[in-house]
Amino acid sequence: MDKLIIEGGVRLHGEVIVSGAKNAALPILCAGLLAETPFTLTGVPELRDVASTLKLLDTMGVKVSKDAEQVVLDASDVASFEATYDMVKTMRASILVLGPLLARFGTARVSLPGGCAIGSRPVDLHIKGLQAMGAAMHITHGYIQASTLHLPNRRLQGAKYYMDLVTVTGTENLMMAAALAQGTTVLENAAKEPEVVDLAECLNKMGAKIKGAGTDTITIEGVERLTGAQHHIVCDRIEAGTYMVAAAMTGGEVTLKNARADLLEAVIEKLREAGATISHDSNSITVKSDGKLKAVNVRTAPHPAFPTDMQAQFMAMNTVAEGVSTVIETIFENRFMHVQELQRMGANIDVQGNTALVQGVSALEGASVMATDLRASAGLVLAGLVAEGETVIDRIYHLDRGYEKLEEKLNQLGAKVRRSN
Ligand code: UD1
Repeated sequence: MDKLIIEGGVRLHGEVIVSGAKNAALPILCAGLLAETPFTLTGVPELRDVASTLKLLDTMGVKVSKDAEQVVLDASDVASFEATYDMVKTMRASILVLGPLLARFGTARVSLPGGCAIGSRPVDLHIKGLQAMGAAMHITHGYIQASTLHLPNRRLQGAKYYMDLVTVTGTENLMMAAALAQGTTVLENAAKEPEVVDLAECLNKMGAKIKGAGTDTITIEGVERLTGAQHHIVCDRIEAGTYMVAAAMTGGEVTLKNARADLLEAVIEKLREAGATISHDSNSITVKSDGKLKAVNVRTAPHPAFPTDMQAQFMAMNTVAEGVSTVIETIFENRFMHVQELQRMGANIDVQGNTALVQGVSALEGASVMATDLRASAGLVLAGLVAEGETVIDRIYHLDRGYEKLEEKLNQLGAKVRRSN
């Protein structure tokens, strides 16, 4: 299994290009199932989760062609309407095929995701939303079996649906399903994440009629068919945010190209509070720091508040900042897996329920640590960049799920990172 070996203590300097967003690419690739004609995407990041999604689409009969520039999907001849447990257990976002399959083909069989490292993560709201649109939903043998064959013209029916929790993939699944429903769907308490907006923009290019994405009420007027389109994936705000924290922690100066400050307001505000200097224009962000940071309190919540996907990175930063901070996780119940590993590097963290109390220490020490999930691993990489000596991070396949060319990009900024197996 691959490991990442990091020699700490280098100030990062230079420029790095931010990739397309994983969390936009995955739903948009699944939206390819809705299109009757070929669909062209650019800016798709080279990630394990993207490869898994393409493999899943391929098993259904979607023709996938891919080169360095673009991914072309042709879903004119889909033959299977199933996502098996083997697929869904490796990548929970596979649930995103449920809405498109059901809306276009009237049938879908998708495995329940089951537990995962960062909590139970149920999909009840995806299921209830589709039921509200008239679908027959049955759970048997660990699978969601969905059908619209009893409905007029076998089409989902537009509905008003209030989601009692803000769910990103839930909003995306229902938005894709509603795009081909008969009548108008109104999703209330919808997720406002930029990736939801990117998906809506892409669906509208395909012929959908969606308004309000980016607010908490999304209105979707169903259409009879969707066609292929050309779409460029929005930049990855979490990847950008991770490099921003790296620059701040190491006391460097890094410019991120293809980064949008307007998608990172909560993160930028917290980094400024910690003492970093941040400037930006419409398509780039520069972070400068002397490395002497103040601890900052963080509380995760749905966009535009502080993202849960940046929590581990800020926890790592707080471990070496001056003072005491609280990090409160309100989205996922078990998302402190990085704490024990950071403690092995000398961090002083006390966890009570969903709150971590972090007392900054003067330095972390390199150690062998274990990556447990994607963002926890990112937090460990950041800790390794400032730790004294060598940090060895095991199980980095988690990082490969979500960070394109991580060691290449870090090394480009001067870091000393290598992969070994
Ligand atoms: C997405 C992101 C993930 C991010 C998360 C929160 C993708 C592919 N992944 O995950 O990176 O960390 O948003 O910003 O975009 N919930 C339910 N029932 C449901 C659905 C969700 O109870 O039917 C709960 C979850 O357990 C969790 C909360 O709602 O506690 C938010 O989860 P959700 O927004 O759905 O996360 P994902 O869409 O899986």
